Formats: sequence, structure tokens, C-alpha cells
Amino acid sequence: MAFSERISRLKSSLIREILAAAQRPEVMSFAGGLPAVEMLPVLDWSQMPASMGQYGMSEGEPALREAIAAEARLLGVPCEASQVLIVSGSQQTLDLASKLFIDPGTKVLLEAPTYLAALQAFQLFGADCVAVPQEADGPQLQALEAQLQNQRPAFAYLIPTFQNPSAVRYSEAKRDAVAALLDRYQVTLIEDEPYRELVFDAGSATPIVSRLRKASWIYTGTVSKTLLPGLRVGYLIATPDLFPHLLRLKQSADLHTNRVGQWQALQWLGTEQYREHLAELRDFYRVRRDAMQAALVEHFSELADWQVPQGGLFFWLKLKQPQDTRLLLDAALAQKVAFMPGEPFFIDPDRAPGYLRLNFSHVAPERLGEGLRRLAGVVRQGLAADAA
Ligand SMILES: Cc1ncc(COP(=O)(O)O)c(C=O)c1O
Repeated sequence: MAFSERISRLKSSLIREILAAAQRPEVMSFAGGLPAVEMLPVLDWSQMPASMGQYGMSEGEPALREAIAAEARLLGVPCEASQVLIVSGSQQTLDLASKLFIDPGTKVLLEAPTYLAALQAFQLFGADCVAVPQEADGPQLQALEAQLQNQRPAFAYLIPTFQNPSAVRYSEAKRDAVAALLDRYQVTLIEDEPYRELVFDAGSATPIVSRLRKASWIYTGTVSKTLLPGLRVGYLIATPDLFPHLLRLKQSADLHTNRVGQWQALQWLGTEQYREHLAELRDFYRVRRDAMQAALVEHFSELADWQVPQGGLFFWLKLKQPQDTRLLLDAALAQKVAFMPGEPFFIDPDRAPGYLRLNFSHVAPERLGEGLRRLAGVVRQGLAADAA
């Protein structure tokens, strides 16, 4: 069959395969990035007008665009509703941005590690991805400057607030420094913030796009982690030089985002009910984060190092003795435990062994200890096999 040349770059997603295995009810899954089922809000559809069943505008529902622009301005993002495009989850922002910027060989700058589905989207279009190491407070600045200067990437894709997978939240100082560098080298920023509202400890920092003076930008968010991923409603906000192109790409992709989901999202955004729901979410996940930390201290202290995440949905473990964690998956699943190997979050997975991403929102606290005990056993067996 003669497929397009890009199809040869289409990789199967390890996470989708793991998630399929983790669906089995007897498996304790630390693999996904899913909200806890018990925290999905009950939805009221009774007031939805029949007109929501009709075709809608490619830009999205006007009232929803207004509400998103208003929330973004509160965060310091300078924008009007006319710059907001409602998308089918923030994943679609990555697809549209890829189509806008990437030809085979186009340089794209990422954090190492980065969100693996972003890496897949960029690589599908042929991006030549280059990366900057992630430190505890954001990217290594010298490496960032060197990449911006030498590689001249078409854009930088960053997840500055509770990054998936590393959970890093950039410091204020790094946010300023990154913005200054992007301005200096006039490199477009794509800032992806699905986890901003899932914050457990004090401290917050405004988006990097609000600090830019010259560079173009796309800021993207979603209701997936705060309401329901099944709605498939996200948004992007773009500088006026980028917006018309993204809108046309959206039109050719799917005409518009589902109106039913947009209507539901609008019932929540900016309301008191939503603020209360967010507060409940934070309390619920904080308890799970703390339970996971306690269980990790018990079972992984000798095996790995990690930072306690201040938000988001993940712990990112660095094994003291690196091994290819992909090779541990079958043994873990045999023990009815699923986790996400760290390698696929890097441009060159084979050169980044020894990380595990563990989700803490899904497994109930009373089962955590048993799951992590089994997983620690699998890691120890892997070490023994490596040594043999
Ligand atoms: C960093 C990041 N970006 C984007 C997405 C996609 O989110 P959505 O459900 O809005 O498509 C995710 C989901 O896990 C994510 O972690």
C-alpha cells in the first residue's frame, strides 16, 4: 500500500498499550494520567438548547471564548476572545501547531524529558527535535541559550507548570529568563498548561507567555484534568500573527469542536461551582500525593530519588542504578501492577534509561503500599538480572 511518507514515522504509543493492559480490574495502575473516577463531576444536561446539535463556528462558542479569555487575563495573559480557538483537547493544539510549523527536518526545541504524545506529534511531521535538560526549577539556561542560538528552532514547546512527566514547576526566575531568551532569539513559544489548577502547595507563577514582549506564542489549556477528559474540550490562545492560520487548520481538521462538550464546559468555567470543584479536587489529590510519598519512602528509598510534586498527577523517579525500565513492564504486569517507563519521554529513549513515571491519582491510598511493594520487587529483580 502506498501511504504518505510520514506514515513511516508513525509510532505505536507505548502508553496506549500499557493503558489497555491496565484496564483489567485486577491491575493496579500507576501508568495513566487519568483523573480519579470518583472526582468526575456529575453533569446536568437538562438545560442544553437543541441548537447545540447544529453545526457551529470553527472558532468555538463565543461565550466560551469570552470566558476563557477572561480567565487567561486574570493569569496575566494579555488576550482578547478573538485570539481564543476552542479545540478538541489540548492534544489538538499540538497537531495544529505541528501542521503550521513543521516540515521534515524542522528543528523543534523541547524539555528533556517531555510529554511523549507531543514528541510523537512533532516527529510524525518530521521534526528534528532538540532538547534542553530539565532541572528541579526549570530548564538549564545555558543549554537553552545554546540551542536557541545554534539550532534556530521553529518553536519551543514547554510545560512550565507541573510538567508531565517530571512534575517540575519552573521558578519565577527561570520563567523570566526563558521569556527573555525567547524574545532575544525571536523563537515562538508553545506553552502547554493542563495541570496549572492541580496545585497542592503554596506558590504560583504566571505563564511565560505573559512575560514575552516580542516572540509569538500559543498558550494551550484544557478541561481534561479539572472536569472530564471525555468532553474533549480544550483551547488555545495565540498571538494575532498565528491565529488565522491555526483557525484554517482547525477548519480542515474537524470544522469545529463538539458543541455539546463546549456547552457543558461553559456551565462550569468561571463559576462558583467550578471554584468549589477545583478546591475539592486539590484536597482529594493532595491526600493521594501524600499517601504515595509515604509509600514511596517505605518501598523506594534505597532504589530511587525523586522530588515531591507540588502539583499535577505524577511522581518522577530516577533509579539510583539505571536500567531500561521498559524491560520491567511484563514482569510488573505479571504482578498486576502497571507503571509508565521513563524512556519514551526522551528524544532518544535508548540513551535515557532509569526513570519511572508513577501516577498518584488513580490507585486508592489503601492499595498503594501493596502496589509499590510489588513494583519495588520488580525493580530489584531487574537489577539482579542486569548484574547476572
Ligand atoms: C502535557 C500535556 N499536554 C496535553 C495533554 C492532552 O490533554 P487533552 O486531554 O486536553 O487533549 C496532556 C494529557 O495528558 C498532557 O499531559
